[in-house]
Amino acid sequence: MAKTLQKLNLIFLVLVMAIFSFSAFVTVGGFSRTLSPAKLGLKREKLSHLHFYFHDIISGRNTTAVRVAKAPTTNTSSTTFGDVVMIDDPLTERPELSSRHVGRAQGVYASASQTEVGLLMVLNFAFMEGKYNGSTLTVLGRNIISSAVRELPIVGGSGLFRFARGYAHAKTHTFDKRTMNAIVEYNLYVLHY
Ligand SMILES: *[C@@H]1O[C@H](CO)[C@@H](O)[C@H](O)[C@H]1NC(C)=O
Ligand SMILES: *[C@@H]1O[C@H](CO)[C@@H](O)[C@H](O)[C@H]1NC(C)=O
Ligand SMILES: *[C@@H]1O[C@H](CO)[C@@H](O)[C@H](O)[C@H]1NC(C)=O
Repeated sequence: MAKTLQKLNLIFLVLVMAIFSFSAFVTVGGFSRTLSPAKLGLKREKLSHLHFYFHDIISGRNTTAVRVAKAPTTNTSSTTFGDVVMIDDPLTERPELSSRHVGRAQGVYASASQTEVGLLMVLNFAFMEGKYNGSTLTVLGRNIISSAVRELPIVGGSGLFRFARGYAHAKTHTFDKRTMNAIVEYNLYVLHY
């Protein structure tokens, strides 16, 4: 009798454990699972170099950068601290605005330093050229505009640039003090699949 009870207890325990582990499997299986990179068609990571010119047009007929906010103290700040500008800047193959358009830089830059003109850049490069049409790269970085070459991290991407990471080097090509319009040369180095 005692033996039968012991057996029943054991069977009950095993059953309870089985139900628990099964429900745990179902819960985890429904929400997340491990995939092999090949399942997503990811074969070999490659390094791409992209080169283009960025046109930040603040004044004139077809402006591409507009101030959307500033602090009451921005006017009296020597570094324009607190200024927030929204951009939809054309990207071209050569420094001339009339050269081939390869995409647009869409996002925001904001004056984030009280000791120098230093921008927080949060933007997407939306490409429109050839096989890159529709793919994007996302930049989140610090841009000290007095430095000859600024390095900004590339934190991700979409389309052909899924799983992207890398960096962008930004170098001022021309800056017009009167209009504040700037042409900036960009070199991007991106790891992606
Ligand atoms: C502004 O855009 C219009 C239409 O795209 C174009 O015809 C004109 O030349 C542009 N003006 C300047 C100053 O770039
Ligand atoms: C800041 O300067 C702009 C133009 O220079 C002016 O329109 C605006 O009223 C000023 N704002 C303050 C808060 O002084
Ligand atoms: C890019 O894709 C859009 C939407 O599919 C299309 O309308 C456009 O013509 C394409 N541009 C180029 C340069 O291929």
